[in-house]
Amino acid sequence: MERVIFATGNEGKMREVRAILAESCGEILSMKEAGVRIDAAEDGVTYEENALIKARAVAAQMDGIIMADDSGLEIDFLDREPGVYSARYMGEDTSYRVKNANLISRLEGVPEEKRTARFVCAIAAILPNGIEKTVRATIEGRIGYEEKGLNGFGYDPIFYVPELGKTTAELTEEEKNLISHRGKALRLMKAELEKL
Ligand code: IMP
Repeated sequence: MERVIFATGNEGKMREVRAILAESCGEILSMKEAGVRIDAAEDGVTYEENALIKARAVAAQMDGIIMADDSGLEIDFLDREPGVYSARYMGEDTSYRVKNANLISRLEGVPEEKRTARFVCAIAAILPNGIEKTVRATIEGRIGYEEKGLNGFGYDPIFYVPELGKTTAELTEEEKNLISHRGKALRLMKAELEKL
């Protein structure tokens, strides 16, 4: 299969991408490894649109299978905020300690059963023939009452998975990849690519 370029600068994401796609793809490169830079405004209103914006910006400069993802946290009680704005919530440079504390305080007094939330991930791929594909996957959970766990990133310390009795920040990278929105979306995309 053609080489894959995954449009991210995030090394953690690249490790996950490589672990999942390795057996069905040839070379898998990050943007940095491919020597490509993009400055695309992620101004879509859906995760799929934002993933496509990034993938198209790379595809304009590079050959191969181009992939990009976009993800976010949806909290039902907050009308699915922060959603597609998850990275920009309270400002891109605000620490997640502050963002997480803010979300917990916005849920003060909200009972367990109303603290439902999910991580969402869309992955877009642009094939060498120009065909565009998108997939989406989620992981359901609840917003906790305090930050727990040191692994992962972003909103992981407040994202509690009831079946496991842990936040996603208390999981190892391998454990999280098995159940995460991004892990599931990558496996869906892998299945799409294997159909080619
Ligand atoms: P992007 O998909 O890289 O644009 O990031 C979206 C934002 O959603 C991240 O910056 C985090 O705030 C949040 N997010 C997405 N996936 C996760 C996750 O697995 N754990 C914690 N936060 C996440």
